[in-house]
Amino acid sequence: MSIEESITEVPLLDLNAQYDRIQDEVKEAIDRVLDSQYFIMGPEVELFEENIAEYCQADYAVGCASGSDALLLSLMAQDIGQGDAVITTSFTFFATAGAVARLGATPIFLDIDPSSYNIDPDQVKRFLEGNHPLNEKIDVTPDEVKAMIPVHLYGQMADMDAFMELGDKYDIKVIEDAAQAIGAEYKGKRAGSIGDFGCFSFFPSKNLGGYGDGGLVTTDDPEMAEKLKVLRLHGAKPKYHHSLVGVNSRLDAIQAAVLDVKLKHLDSWSDASREKALLYNRLFKEANLQGDPNQIICDGSCAKEGKSSCNFVKNPKKILTPKELHGDPDNDGRHVYHQYVIRTGAREEIMNAFDKKNIGYSVYYPVPMHEQECFQYLGYEPKDCPISSCASNTTLALPIYPELTGAQQQYVVDTIKEILNNI
Ligand SMILES: Cc1ncc(COP(=O)(O)O)c(C=O)c1O
Repeated sequence: MSIEESITEVPLLDLNAQYDRIQDEVKEAIDRVLDSQYFIMGPEVELFEENIAEYCQADYAVGCASGSDALLLSLMAQDIGQGDAVITTSFTFFATAGAVARLGATPIFLDIDPSSYNIDPDQVKRFLEGNHPLNEKIDVTPDEVKAMIPVHLYGQMADMDAFMELGDKYDIKVIEDAAQAIGAEYKGKRAGSIGDFGCFSFFPSKNLGGYGDGGLVTTDDPEMAEKLKVLRLHGAKPKYHHSLVGVNSRLDAIQAAVLDVKLKHLDSWSDASREKALLYNRLFKEANLQGDPNQIICDGSCAKEGKSSCNFVKNPKKILTPKELHGDPDNDGRHVYHQYVIRTGAREEIMNAFDKKNIGYSVYYPVPMHEQECFQYLGYEPKDCPISSCASNTTLALPIYPELTGAQQQYVVDTIKEILNNI
């Protein structure tokens, strides 16, 4: 029997495999917290904040209860609220947009670059200049924009030079949503070290995942760091004296202790994930499944003219593998492959085959923000961010994690090949 035939499942993510390797260190760290009975703030949180600030190349790191709260706190630190607008991508996890809306501000959704899935700086530039079709359509003017949130989707950083330049020009703060990109690099700089704020999530499935919820904000601004620290404690300093209306959003000591253990392994895990990504690329090429991006990338016409006009749907026998716009270490980049996402016009067929063969998969994300029901009041139509709409219909995340074996990857690729050859 070949190695491939012996494989019976490939989970999307295998946290047990990771835990098996680090459980002694993790248990020791948790025991230390239990012995101290010090669960809220305290030395474990402070030590982790110091270590992660250094890792992220930032002056300050402020722990909080989740990545969603990291975004919320960064917006609150700038007093963003009703009457303000915040530019972000339509193709992201809900929390990016939810944080803006929860504060009564208006999210502005702009479209993505079709190959990196990150917000396209040209869209932002055009909106701020008043030259974007949405300037006519939505009820927000460029001078109401107080911040923008580029998201480093799937582990690859957005084009930060362009956003920082626009931020400077229009006096707009830049918040990096680095929830999926801890350790990623852009021109040698780490995620969270370039913008005014960097927001991280320690949701268990993230590259640096805790054993529960957790999050963190990085900044180089001492005043903002201090304000974040006050905001996360109900706005109180000293205790029971509230200068601000804050929230209860702290990183638990147990989470900090676990994360500090895992931080020491993070670079080797990220490097391993990248190796898996490169192997997928090679296997897809060898299987002759790689499409030519010039022919099959979709300009979003499907969002304007119906699904059958989509270049992916027209070319279902070929897929597109992820492209590293700012992710190649030989060019001072680093894509940390939180996800390995392919583009395909045969997503349903592949998902059905994966179900039969016990291969994990996910769609990040099936509905872009500008099409979400809760944002209908903003007045967007699918065609307003057509590339995001197309990506929602054609992206598929494959299993990727450091412990994934080459044979498992071959099994995934063979399964896709079998399906696409029979279409
Ligand atoms: C891009 C992005 N932003 C924000 C978040 C929110 O993080 P959390 O789940 O820790 O609240 C996540 C993760 O879930 C995310 O992927």
